[in-house]
Amino acid sequence: MQEQKTEVVILAAGKGTRMYSNTPKVLHNIAGKTMLEHVIVTAKKISSEPIHLIYGHGGERLKDLINDSQIDWTEQKEQLGTGHAVKQVIDKINPENNILILYADVPLLTAETLEALILCKQSSSIALLTASFEQPGGYGRIIRDKAGNIVKITEEKDATEIEKLIREINTGIMLISGQFFSTWLNRIDNNNAQQEYYLTDIVELAIVDKQQISSYITTNIDEVFGVNNKQQLAYLERQYQRMQANKLLINGTTLADPERIDIRGTLTVGKDVKIDINVIFEGDCYIGDNVVIEANSVIRNSTIGNNSTIFVNSLIEDSIVESNCQIGPYARLRPQTHLKESVKVGNFVEIKKSTIEAESKVNHLTYIGDTEMGSRVNVGAGTITCNYDGANKHLTQIGDNVFIGSNSALVAPVIIEANATIAAGSTITKTVADSNLAITRTKQISIENWQRPSKNKQ
Ligand code: UD1
Ligand code: CA
Repeated sequence: MQEQKTEVVILAAGKGTRMYSNTPKVLHNIAGKTMLEHVIVTAKKISSEPIHLIYGHGGERLKDLINDSQIDWTEQKEQLGTGHAVKQVIDKINPENNILILYADVPLLTAETLEALILCKQSSSIALLTASFEQPGGYGRIIRDKAGNIVKITEEKDATEIEKLIREINTGIMLISGQFFSTWLNRIDNNNAQQEYYLTDIVELAIVDKQQISSYITTNIDEVFGVNNKQQLAYLERQYQRMQANKLLINGTTLADPERIDIRGTLTVGKDVKIDINVIFEGDCYIGDNVVIEANSVIRNSTIGNNSTIFVNSLIEDSIVESNCQIGPYARLRPQTHLKESVKVGNFVEIKKSTIEAESKVNHLTYIGDTEMGSRVNVGAGTITCNYDGANKHLTQIGDNVFIGSNSALVAPVIIEANATIAAGSTITKTVADSNLAITRTKQISIENWQRPSKNKQ
């Protein structure tokens, strides 16, 4: 017999009333990515069949975010229960496949757990993912007979006092043989405390049809934890961040405090990297060997080369910092900044869309925008590239070994050729030739015995 394929159904129709938000529940983020995207990423790891996404509220916003040809969008106009939700794809699924039910508000489920569930199913017609909870309140309970076989799932609201003592809960995640999918879903009614069509009722129908039910009991509670409110969202965020911090530690990164680092994306780290507290990584970040990142820095979609140091409170965004650089404290690298080897960028310096060649220094209180800077340039404190004329942005070109005196304004477009010197306080509007000194301020005059103004007597 050919191995059965898995076809995924993701339930995402719920409104999420308890989030008290105008954003649909499943579009809230865990580690910088929506819960729905987390679940889709996991689904794609185990299946290349169509992924049926059952949506209800905020469908347009979901579609704006997720542009993926593997997704089959299926609307559930009214939310009449999990059974009703799944029924929406009855005509779409392939009866030869196994149908895997996932929840878009259960974001931390891993592909490994799903693979274990798929393995467990074997010759049974339903495989349930269950867990043992200290406080099972609110969940559907797994009812087993004396031999340990599952006989039904009872929702909390329909449960007897004795059933409520059962700790084994239904995570909601299950695998169903496609061949029984439509017959069972068509037989479900809403004859229960909530007058909903319960997907869980297929368990009893399977037993009537003499089909086997298997289960996989996961011990990873966070993986099957669903989000209904912001407190639960924050809890999963912390758990996820802890997991990531632990991975870094195990792989040799030094973290000042694993509780105080946030990774919202993918972080690739070299050897002997030290990260102080409250550092945030966003998007795709690559950190080389021996990098030190000091407290409160934010690194977004950027690369930091070997042996570079990022001092406290720096923000680096869509930039490349090559090796042996020193950035900050209090530096801001805006998008499209490229710093070559051994560049120094000091405090209160902002750099945007600029390339700075090796060994140049921009140490204090400076704005460099739309600039091509050579190597071994020294930019004095308070230097500004005036890149914007009110309508357009213009380029500043600075050659190798240029010295720019403090508090200079370089009015772009402008070229300062190699080895030139700009006297402090100059406003440069024209090309400065190779090895020239440019000075634009008025000559200093001195008036002897200068009398300062005094206050008028009344
Ligand atoms: C469901 C299970 C319960 C399980 C629990 C785990 C049923 C009847 N009960 O209960 O056994 O312990 O999940 O969290 O299945 N949804 C739709 N359309 C609907 C109804 C729900 O898309 O018409 C989606 C919701 O958005 C949510 C998920 O299905 O993501 C679960 O729905 P919810 O109403 O929270 O089910 P529970 O009552 O918690
Ligand atoms: Ca729920």
